[in-house]
Amino acid sequence: MGTYKLKNDIKVFKYGNPIETGAVVEEKIKAELENNLDIKFEKGHCKISIKLSSKDMVYGLGGNLGGINKRGRLYESYCIDEPLHIEDRTKLYAAHNFFIISGEKSTGYFIDFPTRIKYDVGYYNENCFNIEICGKDFYLYIIEGKDAKDISNKFLHIIGRSYIPPKWAFGYFQSRWGYRNKEEVKKVYHIFREKDIPLEGIYLDLDYMDDFKDFSISEERFSDLKGFASDLKKDGLYLVPIIDAGVKVEEGYDIYEEGIEGDHFCKDKYGKPYEGVVWPGKVHFPDFMKEETQDWFGSKYKVLTDCGIEGVWNDMNEPAIFYEQEALDEAIQYAEESKGKNLNVFSYFKLKDNFTNLANKDSYYESFYHEIDGKKFSNDEVHNLYGYYMTKSANLGLTKLLRDKRFLLISRASSIGMHRYGGIWTGDNSSWWSHLEQNINMLPSLNMCGFFYIGADTGGFGGNCNGELLTRWLQLSVFTPLLRNHSAVGCNNQEPYVFTEEVLVNSRNLIKARYSLIPYIYSEYMKSVMDYTLMFKPLSFEFGESLAKEIDDQVLLGDQLMIAPVCKPNRRGRYVYFPEKMLEISFLDEDMPTSIKEKGIQYIEYGLEDFKFFIRKNSMIPYVKPSKNVKELDQQNLKVLAYVDDEAVYNLYDDDGQSYDFIEGKNYSTEIKIIKKTDDYEIIVENDNPSIKNISFKIIDSKNNTTHKEISTC
Ligand code: GLC
Repeated sequence: MGTYKLKNDIKVFKYGNPIETGAVVEEKIKAELENNLDIKFEKGHCKISIKLSSKDMVYGLGGNLGGINKRGRLYESYCIDEPLHIEDRTKLYAAHNFFIISGEKSTGYFIDFPTRIKYDVGYYNENCFNIEICGKDFYLYIIEGKDAKDISNKFLHIIGRSYIPPKWAFGYFQSRWGYRNKEEVKKVYHIFREKDIPLEGIYLDLDYMDDFKDFSISEERFSDLKGFASDLKKDGLYLVPIIDAGVKVEEGYDIYEEGIEGDHFCKDKYGKPYEGVVWPGKVHFPDFMKEETQDWFGSKYKVLTDCGIEGVWNDMNEPAIFYEQEALDEAIQYAEESKGKNLNVFSYFKLKDNFTNLANKDSYYESFYHEIDGKKFSNDEVHNLYGYYMTKSANLGLTKLLRDKRFLLISRASSIGMHRYGGIWTGDNSSWWSHLEQNINMLPSLNMCGFFYIGADTGGFGGNCNGELLTRWLQLSVFTPLLRNHSAVGCNNQEPYVFTEEVLVNSRNLIKARYSLIPYIYSEYMKSVMDYTLMFKPLSFEFGESLAKEIDDQVLLGDQLMIAPVCKPNRRGRYVYFPEKMLEISFLDEDMPTSIKEKGIQYIEYGLEDFKFFIRKNSMIPYVKPSKNVKELDQQNLKVLAYVDDEAVYNLYDDDGQSYDFIEGKNYSTEIKIIKKTDDYEIIVENDNPSIKNISFKIIDSKNNTTHKEISTC
């Protein structure tokens, strides 16, 4: 075992000979350290057991099911294409191995290991947190800090700054697997414009490809994509096409031919390119662990950037494998042998399971190989790096192609380290109320693991959404950096206009509210990423009361807001826990009525036609008039809604929203200070943002008295 520390006194224990995943960017310094954890090695696996006291909270683990407190559940880190996020699932698309145990004292742990880890967070024995690392080569980071918030900030520092998309990526996006051709996409765009619903862009699912081939564009259905993208862009609209991990095996297909020629594909045990089956039938998987392959694949995004595309989603990169030919043949053979036989329960189950369990078998991942620094590793040994390195490849490629222009990039599979290269959506959820609730639970956990450009498929991907669920989901998603309504082919459409007039009106208002809040959401995003702090926080990160620890359907956004969406059907409101006195605001009402909420639990009326959130004491939020897209947002007349008892300060961050100049300090700040005087407020504004000319204030005090003020910044 080697022991190291990082600059900020984070301890690092090196076991065996770990693969350098690139998750941590800070340098390790040799140091003599002792590890007091209960660690055992058995049959090549490592077992760690940590005692939990009844008061300990366990935070983190990123893209997983379960609440904000991860106790009482089993989890597994092994990225998987899991379309059914049901209660007993232990693993999804992400492998985010950072967690914090917080009670009397708080300690953070990061296991830097590229494949399977199993966690029993007090499931079988409520006082025991048992971890099984399925290997013996890994780094274990131990992070001490004054509390969970401090530890998560320290962790964000050592893994490096998260990906920053362009400002337009904060708009509203419509998506659907099943917009079969340009005309259908155009129709969606026209309806959005006609119905006056803001729209930033449309995601193109695999329907745009020719026979599911990466970097191909169907001549028949999406001819002249360049002209199409350019026409849409004139109206400020972006197209965001998908790219899948598997490359179709087909003689004459350029990507396949180049991949073979350049030796870019993962190998099977005989040293031949490995063949799995995904959308187009047989595919090879690029070996993203090789730098040459990263460069090669990354350069292929040129096909899209040449069409004026500035955003991409990487999919099926766990990688998902529908089946291997041999496994399917065996299943068919068993079925043929079963034909006409009197099958008992076991033979019948075997027959059925042979087909239902055909996808993503563990054995597939054991049977293909990557090359890392000239050495061979099975995919199983580095499994969780696949989506990460595919997205790294895309990021490096797009950075070269688009030079100093930022781009939108999201991936389905991820592990820590990937957060520097792209954002994520939370995969194939369903149009279920429980998945709306899951969405809010996951936000702080994802932030803790470095993922900030995040969002779920609003309305749900699988299953049929209804107007009520879509509206409720939008009431939450208007706060998430990635706001995309996406659904699966075969399910009912769920664009905001396909339901009733009432749903259309409510959705339109909510999406408009999102645009009004973009200056604030963007500012909070950028400050969190630049300062290595969480954008979404559990209540317990700010409030010590025991009740704050039990709430996971309410979260804090920045230091200003608390959000508490309604996650149940047939409700006209919900109970909300106020850990301190706050200001309730009905944002959609023209005069924005407010009401002071005392500390404690209160029932809040929250209808489908509303948009409500809560402003913390001595805080404010800036907003603007809504617009049809980000480009047209007019910050000239900024508005501020403040809840001030004595003094409130807000620093509104802004920049050009498209280049990387902000890194060199080219950004704007508008510092607003509101100080309560005996019967008035003093307002001090220091503004270097030329686009902000006037600021009008609505200030509410703790007795719900309102004061209006207006100042010019010129
Ligand atoms: C995967 C993606 C989903 C996409 C579908 C078709 O299931 O997660 O978002 O629509 O593939 O490409």
